Amino acid sequence: MAIRNIRELGDECLTLRCKEVKEMTPRVRELIEDMLDTMYEAGGVGLAACQVGVLKRIVVIDTTGEDPHILINPRIVETSGEQTGQEGCLSVPGKTGVVTRPMYVKVVAQDAAMKNIELEGTELLARAICHELDHLDGHVYVEKVEGELMDAVYDEVEE
Ligand code: NI
Repeated sequence: MAIRNIRELGDECLTLRCKEVKEMTPRVRELIEDMLDTMYEAGGVGLAACQVGVLKRIVVIDTTGEDPHILINPRIVETSGEQTGQEGCLSVPGKTGVVTRPMYVKVVAQDAAMKNIELEGTELLARAICHELDHLDGHVYVEKVEGELMDAVYDEVEE
């Protein structure tokens, strides 16, 4: 287990489409462990593999600090409603911006055992899922910010 370096806006890794994970290997397992460590260490609620420089379709999300979700090859299959609120990103430190996302999201993915899973989320979890899945397609939330990107003045949620 190790803390990996988080790539910041301007790094090419954040602009590229990540590749499907075909099988679980010791290396991928180590990557996932490191992603969780890195996310918790940085105080974030989500992290995509490309944010640590690995172009694989893997995200980790934990919006409560005690319920880590590992999503491999995730795909959103259902959304509903809308929420507008502040968002941040570990790759854009010190900044925050207002983004509109679905209020509810259902995602299908594989877990760390490459077993098919389904995850439903509302509110912050729905927002985190959308934010992290955008990373896998080379998109960062700043592209979707309504109005100006602002300086985060207090402990914002970072994803
Ligand atoms: Ni992010």
